[in-house]
Amino acid sequence: MTARMPDTPLGQPSLQAVRLSKSFLSGHVRVQVLQGLSIALYPGELSLISGPSGCGKSTLLSLLSGLQHPDEGQAMALGEDLGAMGARALEHFRLRHTGFVFQGFNLFPALTALEQVQLPLGYMGLKNAESLHRAERALDEVDMSHRSHMRPAELSGGERQRVAIARAMAKEPQLLFADEPTSALDAESGQRVIDILHRAARAHGTTVLCVSHDPRLVRHADRVLGMEDGAIRNDWRPNTVNQE
Ligand SMILES: Nc1ncnc2c1ncn2[C@@H]1O[C@H](COP(=O)(O)OP(=O)(O)OP(=O)(O)O)[C@@H](O)[C@H]1O
Ligand SMILES: [Mg+2]
Repeated sequence: MTARMPDTPLGQPSLQAVRLSKSFLSGHVRVQVLQGLSIALYPGELSLISGPSGCGKSTLLSLLSGLQHPDEGQAMALGEDLGAMGARALEHFRLRHTGFVFQGFNLFPALTALEQVQLPLGYMGLKNAESLHRAERALDEVDMSHRSHMRPAELSGGERQRVAIARAMAKEPQLLFADEPTSALDAESGQRVIDILHRAARAHGTTVLCVSHDPRLVRHADRVLGMEDGAIRNDWRPNTVNQE
């Protein structure tokens, strides 16, 4: 009998790289970063990209989120070809459907945790009462309600990153991108951050794509994509290996 693996996702991919190629000009030399990379990612999953420095992980993230455009191939998000969208449509798409978490937190020094989370919701056009409600709920999800009136300087690294995640999650994006979100954190804070991202995928059906060097995070991911020299070299599901 050929049973489907229990964790294999059903349905349409929410993010898709279709033969993506990308190069950069460095002086007179053209550096080929991605060469015909294809991958399909699904809702409700945390996919972790790992691989050596310079192999193209951040580049792949920025192509799949529409921040940069490929030289060749297509980046599809929620069934739409990002390259076929006009600049305004793309900006609107990114605002509505994508959230980002970075290594450096990118918080505003003068704003409290609550204000940081509320700010982008205002850009999305939410009314004050609704944005306040969503911001409080997101801070609660990352267990930061008790710090909501504190500014970044008063928070630890792990707490800052939880605020940054709350800010991304409060938008209720279908796509959540995280580039090395745990690399500035100690092991325990890092695991907590990855657990929160995993919970976001499970609880809200979010597609979470996370780049990390940290091998300790592998067991927290649904799927691990090993990248090398601009290509996906392996693709596996850490929590189904023993069930096969
Ligand atoms: N805007 C750019 N201009 C020129 N070269 C670039 C640009 N962005 C990336 N590169 C080059 O592309 C290659 C891949 O970069 P990328 O940032 O995707 O790697 P990475 O896998 O994320 O590495 P790291 O783990 O160090 O963050 C590197 O050689 C980098 O120098
Ligand atoms: Mg990078």
